Amino acid sequence: MRVIVVDRFGGPEVLRVKTVPDPHPGPGQVVVEVKVAGVLSLDTVIRRGEGGDRFAVSPPYVPGAGAAGQVTEIGAGVDPSWCGQWVLADVDGGGYAEQVLAAPDQLIRIPPGAGLREAMALLHDGATALAVFERVRVQRGETVLVQPAGGGLGILLVQLAHAAGARVIGAARGAAKLEAVRGLGADVVIDYSEPGWADRAGPVDVAFDGVGGELGRAAARLVVPGGRYSNYGFAGGAPVPADEVARRGVTAYGLEQLSEYEPGRRARAERVLRLAARGAVRPVVGQTFPLSRAADAHRALENRTATGKTLLVV
Ligand SMILES: NC(=O)c1ccc[n+]([C@@H]2O[C@H](COP(=O)([O-])OP(=O)(O)OC[C@H]3O[C@@H](n4cnc5c(N)ncnc54)[C@H](OP(=O)(O)O)[C@@H]3O)[C@@H](O)[C@H]2O)c1
Repeated sequence: MRVIVVDRFGGPEVLRVKTVPDPHPGPGQVVVEVKVAGVLSLDTVIRRGEGGDRFAVSPPYVPGAGAAGQVTEIGAGVDPSWCGQWVLADVDGGGYAEQVLAAPDQLIRIPPGAGLREAMALLHDGATALAVFERVRVQRGETVLVQPAGGGLGILLVQLAHAAGARVIGAARGAAKLEAVRGLGADVVIDYSEPGWADRAGPVDVAFDGVGGELGRAAARLVVPGGRYSNYGFAGGAPVPADEVARRGVTAYGLEQLSEYEPGRRARAERVLRLAARGAVRPVVGQTFPLSRAADAHRALENRTATGKTLLVV
């Protein structure tokens, strides 16, 4: 089978196609024939060698924490009803491949009628968006800022806040992303690459910040005392320390909130799939690339041309 391998940390060019022997399931394992693999910004961070202790991966490795496809083989001790099922595999690496090995507890059945790509777009982004959103308890009528509003996770937060009856401000860079976000429930869209953007965003009750750095600090400063600031990513700079924000009387949830959500990830992924099935959230697959062009998928994320979810099609 073909996989994408990283032999050394570096730029997108280190993502190379390699042919390796097909995997065979050991006891308690299944083989999933992959149709679609998810790409995360985190994959680019790890590929650059910036994963730190939390994501300590060393080359050679096959990137990718999620894949969607069909179970084609099962190992000893696995419930035979898995055979032939269409599933999401929530794996610890190895997703950029034609086949992945997984244990049944890493699998989520894709509900009948759900698109494989749409389901894949929700596996991580949807589960984390739900967790982050629920922690903050958005109330009807509150003003909520989401940034980056056009990211895979951000675009789901915009929808969740809109559905909760909030007035939603979506901040992102560039007209294409802002248009997409407006169409999904943002009442106001703001380009945060333009001077004075924060003044136009005005005071907010809640800020969801996946950017960090200076943009993150500016978002945190917009939150009124008594409001909530939630930092779930650092796409554009260092995470904003929660204690710094809390000094202004704002309840701050720092990046460490993410590890608390790990145990409930599977249940949340299943729940967000059900929400999508009844149209309560709409996964947005902005761009797909053939597996062999994984490097271009990483480039799209790193040069900020990607909107919504980025997928590899096998
Ligand atoms: N997706 C998940 O499941 C998940 C889970 C936990 C944490 N996170 C983190 O949360 C952050 C946002 O995630 P996401 O899924 O909404 O977005 P994403 O699809 O990973 O895309 C990253 C976004 O970050 C923005 N950005 C701002 N400054 C950037 C920079 N210097 N370089 C690259 N991108 C930059 C870009 O939007 P603009 O061009 O509009 O600025 C881009 O759309 C990321 O840091 C991600 O690692 C994501």
